[in-house]
Parts: sequence; C-alpha cells; structure tokens
Amino acid sequence: MAVTLEAVRADITRLAVDAIVNAANESLLGGGGVDGAIHRAAGAGLLAHCRTLGGCPTGEARITPGFGLPARHVIHTVGPVWRGGSHGEADLLAACYRNCLRLATENGVKTIAFPAISCGVYGYPVMDATRIAVHETRAALRSGASGIEPVQFVCFGDEVWNAYQKVLSVPV
Ligand code: APR
Repeated sequence: MAVTLEAVRADITRLAVDAIVNAANESLLGGGGVDGAIHRAAGAGLLAHCRTLGGCPTGEARITPGFGLPARHVIHTVGPVWRGGSHGEADLLAACYRNCLRLATENGVKTIAFPAISCGVYGYPVMDATRIAVHETRAALRSGASGIEPVQFVCFGDEVWNAYQKVLSVPV
C-alpha cells in the first residue's frame, strides 16, 4: 500500500488536520516548545482535560480533543530525554510513533502531523530521530492498514527540515 510521508515547514498549531501530535512531558500539564505552543493555541480547555488523564509514561500516547485548535484531536506523546543513547532511547522514540499511529487508527484519524519528537529540549540527535520517525511510521502504516494519508512531519527549523529531506529521499 502506498504510504505518503511528507515534510512540511509549518507551525503545527495552525494545521487543520484530524490530529496533531504533541511532544509532551509525563505530566501532560504543558511546558515550553511545541507543548507550550499547542496549549496556548488550544486554550485552557486542553489543560483542564489533560488534568483528568493522570499523566503519560515515556513512549506512550494519549488522545484528547483539539479544543481551540484547527485540528480535531491532539495526540500527546512523551519522547525520551537523550542521555547518550544507551538508555533505551531509540526504542522509546520508536514506541512514540507506533503508539501515536495506533491511537490515530483506533480513533478514525485520516490525516496526522508530527513534530520532531525529542529533538528540542530533550536533545535527541536530529538525524537519528528522523530515521526512527520515518522507519517506524512506514512500518506502522504498512502493517496497520490504517488509511492514514498523508502523514506530515512538521519541520520548525532548517536542521529538522534538512534531516527529513535526506531521509525521505532514500528509496524504500
Ligand atoms: N510547530 C512545530 N514544531 C515546533 C513548534 C511548533 N509550533 N515549536 C517547536 N517545535 C519543534 C522544535 O523546534 C523541535 O524540533 O518541535 C520539536 C520538539 O521540540 P520540543 O518542543 O522542545 O520537544 P521535546 O524535545 O520533545 O521536549 C519535550 O519540552 O516543551 C517541553 O513539556 C515539554 O517537557 C517537554 C519537553
């Protein structure tokens, strides 16, 4: 099944897709970076709803309504903090993409946009994270027959944009 993955330069809070993914922390109570931007754009209703969820372990994902966002849903996931690469970071980051796509499929999501999870405050090396994002997403969509189309990887700076251009240009 053809799977359309595309890199876009955008502010994820402005995308009118079925779901945007939030790079959250385990409290799910907001923060800086894309987490802060999503909460600011969604409004207070999102935080109030997140308070009822009881947090989210690293590698897992939780879905909420989008509230004031143009996106219908927010899928919150918690990426690993980069600690040098020998603390299971790669597996945890892969699990983020897999769990977000599983939740999306279970909730009838057809269009989804991911930020570069863990590539900001959490310090994950961008090329490594991008390879994991693309590999895991391709694998999940092939196996899940989810009908999610397209998957957008939102690049908020040149480093992430260049990484996705490189990784997505490699023939499968
Ligand atoms: N749209 C799209 N991408 C964005 C936006 C935005 N509006 N704002 C930031 N980004 C990008 C960053 O440039 C980076 O490439 O999102 C990527 C992830 O960076 P962070 O938001 O710092 O997320 P992460 O590295 O996963 O760290 C998560 O930061 O904000 C806190 O509460 C959050 O504790 C958690 C931690």
